[in-house]
Amino acid sequence: MTATETLRANSGITFKPLAPTFGAECVGVDFSKPVPGSTVQIIRDGMARYGVLVFRGTQLDDAGHVAFAAQFGDLDDQTPWIHPGTPYRLGQYTQLSDVGNIEVDGHIVQKEDIRYQINQGNKLFHVDCSYNPRRAGYSMLRAHTLPPKGTGGGTAFADTRTAYDDLDAESKDRIKDLVLWHSLWHSRRLGAPDSAVLQSVNPEDHAMARHKLVQLHEPSGRTNLYIAWHAYRVDGWTREESRPLIEALLEHASQDKYTFQVDWENNGDLIIWDNTCVMHRATGGTYQGKYVRDMRRATVLDSSSTAWGLNDQTVERSGMFASTTKNTKWVDGQDVKTQAA
Ligand code: OGA
Ligand code: MN
Repeated sequence: MTATETLRANSGITFKPLAPTFGAECVGVDFSKPVPGSTVQIIRDGMARYGVLVFRGTQLDDAGHVAFAAQFGDLDDQTPWIHPGTPYRLGQYTQLSDVGNIEVDGHIVQKEDIRYQINQGNKLFHVDCSYNPRRAGYSMLRAHTLPPKGTGGGTAFADTRTAYDDLDAESKDRIKDLVLWHSLWHSRRLGAPDSAVLQSVNPEDHAMARHKLVQLHEPSGRTNLYIAWHAYRVDGWTREESRPLIEALLEHASQDKYTFQVDWENNGDLIIWDNTCVMHRATGGTYQGKYVRDMRRATVLDSSSTAWGLNDQTVERSGMFASTTKNTKWVDGQDVKTQAA
């Protein structure tokens, strides 16, 4: 037994697999008090193997959610997504992404609302923050208020390590050194073809981030296909040259045999996924426009040796309210011009 296996055997924490190649429910973690370091290690170990862990009924509140997430590394914050001058719906908890469907005044977003249109992009398989210079490691998504049962709102996952393993030798060789440019605005446009606002955005006018397509997933020693619908083009290729390859790889990795869906059961359920070895997507449903689905996400920045990809180590990030044109840098919550516009 490894050291963590011994730790786990004595802890009462167990993993129940949810799909043939990845994903598990983690049972036995007590979230009613601060989670000890030994449990953090057991969760890390489970994450390396399964990529997705589901914790039912944690009862965590915003403060507990942030404190738990911070035990796993540096957290991203939501500055690029918060409208300057408008109160944040989650108040002081700016480390939590508001991925729900309600505005600060409490109304459920409707088709014509930009937040609705932006959320549509989450229904495409993706990894969080690949469009930022430093990519995300773990995402920790918590159900604060779920829509009524039977109205949808599940979250699906795709195993990009197994999808890589199953590629034929020729494909592996063809893609082994490729680098992808990732763009938030590209996936937002793809997700909302009817949005006049999003269709008017040209991704090339905004910052993108570069990460290698084929990467070692350091915690497991396996190889991962680091791809998402954020992928705009291959470095050195035009968008048109890149599109067939990007789409073929995404289709390959999205096949049923590499995916499973989690249905959220109760408020307080928490799912952790590792963006450096799985993709995920919101599955939508009839709740949209009708019922509250209030989901909150803490995002742990990646600490692997390839966290920054081929990007400059700046704090510039993409978001609805970040001015991320190529001439600006987001520094300490301010938009700083780096050259004449
Ligand atoms: C996210 C996300 C999916 C969902 O929080 O990053 O993509 O089901 N969420 O809400
Ligand atoms: Mn996401």
